[in-house]
Amino acid sequence: MNNFDFYNPTRIAFGEGKIAALDTLVPADAKVLILFGGESARRTGTLGEVEAALGNRQVQLFGGIEPNPSFETLMEAVTIVQRDGIDYLLAVGGGSVIDGTKFVAAASVFDGDAWDILLKGGTNIHRALPFGSVLTLPATGSEMNKGAVVTRKSLQAKLPFHSEHVFPQFSVLDPTKSFTLPPRQVANGVVDAFVHIVEQYLTYPASAPVQDRFAEGLLQTLIDIGPQALSDPENYSVRADLMWVATLALNGLIGAGVPQDWATHMLGHELTALHGLDHAQTLAIVLPAMLTERKDAKHGKLVQYAQRVWSIHEGSESEQAEAAIEKTRAFFESLGVKTRLGDYQLAEEHIEPLIKSLEEHGMTALGEHNDVTPDVCRRVLHASL
Ligand code: NZQ
Ligand code: ZN
Repeated sequence: MNNFDFYNPTRIAFGEGKIAALDTLVPADAKVLILFGGESARRTGTLGEVEAALGNRQVQLFGGIEPNPSFETLMEAVTIVQRDGIDYLLAVGGGSVIDGTKFVAAASVFDGDAWDILLKGGTNIHRALPFGSVLTLPATGSEMNKGAVVTRKSLQAKLPFHSEHVFPQFSVLDPTKSFTLPPRQVANGVVDAFVHIVEQYLTYPASAPVQDRFAEGLLQTLIDIGPQALSDPENYSVRADLMWVATLALNGLIGAGVPQDWATHMLGHELTALHGLDHAQTLAIVLPAMLTERKDAKHGKLVQYAQRVWSIHEGSESEQAEAAIEKTRAFFESLGVKTRLGDYQLAEEHIEPLIKSLEEHGMTALGEHNDVTPDVCRRVLHASL
């Protein structure tokens, strides 16, 4: 295991009714901008509950942050923050709203063109406004991490950034707030969290048994509770477990000190940028084909994954690895998330533009060995047809 410096300052307020804790979590004299998405936060009553918990604080609202939040919309929020002297942000929503809020927090106090934040991956962020979040969709882990992904529609570019300055100060995780999610978003959340774990676990053996066992436990929990989260939407215990797994999947803990992959995510971002697929749909398409393509490089961990996560012990090691990849695909399909480009009306002619975009965005040496080139990605996409 490598040396590492693990730092995560986000405070978690977990459980039913925890929105009331906003009164102590948000400074009493804060001038707050609540950021939210479409109509779900208002329709479900969560927004009203948040406003009530904030009591007499000065509060303004900014709605309309879309799934895969756009630079264009977020810059409207930046204008309001600067114009009205907002000094605290509160995200109410899923990963898109929280990611968007991270961008607004940094861009509002950024010197220069805010798009540079994305071009430099966040390394040029030196400060940001403080913010917290109220999570309504377990999936991305954005509620307890320092990453975000922003899309510039006019350029069809979806790019990530990271900075220690954009950790949420706190996140309220009330599992009952996820009861209103449509099945598609629940399934997306299970797949996204699953692939986050895989991207940090399924690389090569790194003498990190704690991270391995932790990752395997999280994966097995998702395999157990994913179907129940769909079939029994108001089961508090299941939704609570799902919310906590999704947070732990990407709060840095299982990835500390171990190699990481992220090739599936980067290729997936291009599919969303060009074709508007949900984030998790792109992962469900790319991951099985990516694992098959890189079966040899990932042999040791694939066999471990097969044996420990899926309890596959029959056949040769190579057969076990293949069976585990098939189990993974079948799991995504069983949740209703399709795993082939054709399922989303995409065909061979769509592959070259995706590869061109990857190259334009400098995504030419991906994966834990930096050897996932555009050629490799091209083969992966052909295998996903
Ligand atoms: O817009 P509204 O009306 O609020 O509806 C949303 C949206 O349409 C709806 N929704 C959210 N909570 C709900 C609800 N509907 C009913 N009841 C509720 N309680 O769900 C839809 C999808 O929301 P979104 O926030 O887009 O989903 P998700 O949480 O999956 O976030 C996806 C975004 O996060 C990024 C993705 O790239 C994508 O842009 N990611 C962020 C990461 C990070 N910061 O670490 C890591 C991930 O890999 C991911 O890339
Ligand atoms: Zn993801």
